[in-house]
Amino acid sequence: MKLAIIGAGNVGGALGTAWAQKAGHDVVFGVRDPKAEKTQSLLRAIGAKARAATAADAAASADVIVLATPWPATEAAIRAMGDLKGKIVLDATNPLTRGPDGIGLEIGHAISGGEKVQGWAAGASVFKTLNTTGFGNMANPVFHGVKSVMFVAGDDAANKPKVMELVGQLGFEMVDAGPLRNARLLEAHGMLWIDLALARGQGRDFAFGILRR
Ligand SMILES: NC(=O)c1ccc[n+]([C@@H]2O[C@H](COP(=O)([O-])OP(=O)(O)OC[C@H]3O[C@@H](n4cnc5c(N)ncnc54)[C@H](OP(=O)(O)O)[C@@H]3O)[C@@H](O)[C@H]2O)c1
Repeated sequence: MKLAIIGAGNVGGALGTAWAQKAGHDVVFGVRDPKAEKTQSLLRAIGAKARAATAADAAASADVIVLATPWPATEAAIRAMGDLKGKIVLDATNPLTRGPDGIGLEIGHAISGGEKVQGWAAGASVFKTLNTTGFGNMANPVFHGVKSVMFVAGDDAANKPKVMELVGQLGFEMVDAGPLRNARLLEAHGMLWIDLALARGQGRDFAFGILRR
């Protein structure tokens, strides 16, 4: 599969590395400066399955576009890609704000970043996923042989199985979390992971799982 990953930082780098090396996908990082040394260094580390381009070039030939940009840059990054009609877009961003009381959601809880992304990416099929755990866990989602959980929220029922399979190739146990409006739940869940990791002493080496009877 041809994957465009917009942003080549912590999340983009971890996802691109895993998808190229574990699953053999062709990865194009959509970045502002494809020649930047940090991007070139990432490409060397991944090998022949990865390259870098502008976001628009990366998106043009991609089967799936993954958003791994800081929230404040996300609208501009989407607009830079032009017409995304018919494209599958995975939104891994979290619309975070930080204040004296800790982290919060910049846009509140009555809308989600995922739904905002759908508004900016007109005609695309947007799925919220990969926002509820740290980038280290995206590289290595398995804990003592048990898969940590990853949720997918999106309205496009026809393409959801394909998205679940793609994200599952990273090593997660996949759970369908319902329609895109449930990105509101997933973004709050993402905040819980961040708060526990960074403010409650859990560190980054933990993840959520699903127990069943
Ligand atoms: N860190 C985590 O563990 C984690 C986990 C789940 C979700 N998230 C979410 O994932 C997103 C990325 O987080 P991160 O930690 O990977 O951030 P990061 O390390 O700061 O990387 C962000 C990347 O986005 C690029 N970028 C910025 N503006 C851009 C634009 N207009 N067009 C294209 N690329 C642009 C940056 O490139 P430049 O070098 O050009 O600035 C950089 O490569 C955030 O929304 C975050 O909330 C993070």
